[in-house]
Amino acid sequence: MFFDRLPGAGYVCAHRGARALAPENTMLAFELALELGADYWETDVHKAADGTLVVFHDDVLSRTSNIARQSEFAHRAPWPTWSFTLEELRRLDVGSWFVDEDPYGTIAAGSGDPALIKRMKGLSIPTLDQALAFSKQKSFPVNIEIKDQTQLPGDLSIVGDVLQAVHEHEAEDLVLISSFNHDYLAEMHRLAPRIPLAVLVEDTPPDNVVSYLRALGADTYHPDRNLIDAECVRALGKQGIRVAPWTVNDMAEALSLVEAGCFGIITDYTHVLRRLLTERGG
Ligand code: G3P
Ligand code: MG
Repeated sequence: MFFDRLPGAGYVCAHRGARALAPENTMLAFELALELGADYWETDVHKAADGTLVVFHDDVLSRTSNIARQSEFAHRAPWPTWSFTLEELRRLDVGSWFVDEDPYGTIAAGSGDPALIKRMKGLSIPTLDQALAFSKQKSFPVNIEIKDQTQLPGDLSIVGDVLQAVHEHEAEDLVLISSFNHDYLAEMHRLAPRIPLAVLVEDTPPDNVVSYLRALGADTYHPDRNLIDAECVRALGKQGIRVAPWTVNDMAEALSLVEAGCFGIITDYTHVLRRLLTERGG
């Protein structure tokens, strides 16, 4: 299983791929994450209007695509991700915004060579199938975050769909499934108790993290970084709980959490954290 491939602690998880250096949730960002030494990677999954599972973060398409400039889609603003078919999504460019906006200043800082920048333009939304094929081909473990299908409250079908894709790619030992929707996690545990689960928490942590995770069949805790510190990581570690906070972009904080025995650091700066850990001999 996933944890047999990553048996210790202090792993670098590339958040949405190598997000500081390439457009998030694109095959280019995933390839770079591997190249730059991530131990595993994180990606977000939505269900498109035709049922295809696609890799994309936001509930709407505008921030990380060129949809606002596509006149054919103007009448469908604000462009909910779930309301577009794969064929329509494939008409979008999800790479050029990164070159135009340079959100991390990495292009201005010269981190991207011209050939890399050229590859960013015109990138398309990957499917979960593509992401799993990549994970399998490279033996690169992946944390699949199932995004809440807010348009379908109470509908758990996306969980079975993700599981089917994992089975089709024989990727059972490469995946960790996470979600802010804990009903999805409970459903995954019901369908496939051996698939490892991570409980994502943004605002309010459970009163008792250990018993909450155990009740869900999870042993991994993915809190917002503001909800934990090194002491908390140590205390949970003593009770057998792996912790992987997000999104840790302050490298001093990341190193302190690793020192405390944090299982994973979910970061946009794979390349920096990998270098720092390597320099420390980790
Ligand atoms: O899985 C960790 C992190 O990705 C959760 O937040 O909004 O970046 O998907 P978000
Ligand atoms: Mg995510």
